[in-house]
Amino acid sequence: MKTYFERMKNLCEQLRKQKKVTILAIESSCDETSVAIVVNGRKVVSNIISSQIDIHRHFGGVVPEVASRNHILNIIPLIDQALDSAKLTFDDIDAVAVTQGAGLVGALLVGLTTAKALCFALDKPLINVNHIKGHIAANFLAYPKLEPPFICLITSGGHTAIVKVVDYVHFELIGSTQDDAIGEAFDKVARVLGLEYPGGVKVDRLARGVEPKLKFIHDGLSDSYNVSYSGLKTAVINYVHKLTQNGEPLDVKQICASFQHEAVDMLTSRVIRACAEFNMDKLVLAGGVAANSYLRESLDKLCKTNKIQLFYPPIEFCTDNAAMIGSIGYYQLLSCDPADLDISALASIDLNQA
Ligand code: KG4
Ligand code: ZN
Repeated sequence: MKTYFERMKNLCEQLRKQKKVTILAIESSCDETSVAIVVNGRKVVSNIISSQIDIHRHFGGVVPEVASRNHILNIIPLIDQALDSAKLTFDDIDAVAVTQGAGLVGALLVGLTTAKALCFALDKPLINVNHIKGHIAANFLAYPKLEPPFICLITSGGHTAIVKVVDYVHFELIGSTQDDAIGEAFDKVARVLGLEYPGGVKVDRLARGVEPKLKFIHDGLSDSYNVSYSGLKTAVINYVHKLTQNGEPLDVKQICASFQHEAVDMLTSRVIRACAEFNMDKLVLAGGVAANSYLRESLDKLCKTNKIQLFYPPIEFCTDNAAMIGSIGYYQLLSCDPADLDISALASIDLNQA
């Protein structure tokens, strides 16, 4: 008798010949539980997201154990809702894609264990997805004609990287943060300014229309594609503490605008340089911070000047969602083996792992 893995390898070979492949996708890496149904990696049939932001706001950030417990409460009702809203049943699902990492291990485990249980019960292939690649694939949902190769700038709460997307399953890391992610820096600066979690979007709003006048750091890595956000974050925090201790007023809008400019300019200059060096005329944005209005406006201008086509996902696909996991899961199914049922959740993950 063949093992589950052998059966699924054969099944995937058959699915590759099928005209229509329907994937149920699950995302639970941080504070969003999400289940989606995606056809052929491009068409979102349903995408249900349950955000825990209101729960974690009370704590000023995501509390991992609280996140895991809420994923447990949410996951099964969300699967039912995703199927109902697509007017489908489990019989219509060809494979299950799930985020294996990176993220909070306890949170990831909820989605991963559910996906494994579904695959075991339904005898369907399991596709283990790298969350970062999912963010990139959000653009395949928004732009039906977008195809690799292209340069991608990944800017999220957990990751900051410049990546060459060679094809749907080959990714080369060009540069990344040496410490904090850009979204993390946005959230910490927001916190010291007394803005509610998640603060990135609030910093963005307060900075709008404000001419930046403060300079917090010197970009010491400007010759490389790597960036560092720890220094910038600490400089802003120290500046705020110093003014507060001296009883001087804080110009919150000015601090937001100046920080945002420095944080974003570090990336935009590098990513335009990467497009030139790697001879790419397509640039794709991905991740939660891709929603930032200054980042979008700056790249709009720079890409026009440099004759680069710019793509960024609509806001609902910038933050965590399962549809993006279903998209990249489809392309993995087309050219890679499915996963076995003994895989573990991974807190951190290399770009070409999963
Ligand atoms: O991709 P994402 O949902 O989660 C991770 O995978 O990390 O990104 C969330 C991050 C948070 O740090 C949030 O503050 C930030 O994206 N963010 C923004 C904006 N909208 C969300 N940062 C700056 N400007 C925004 N408009
Ligand atoms: Zn994410």
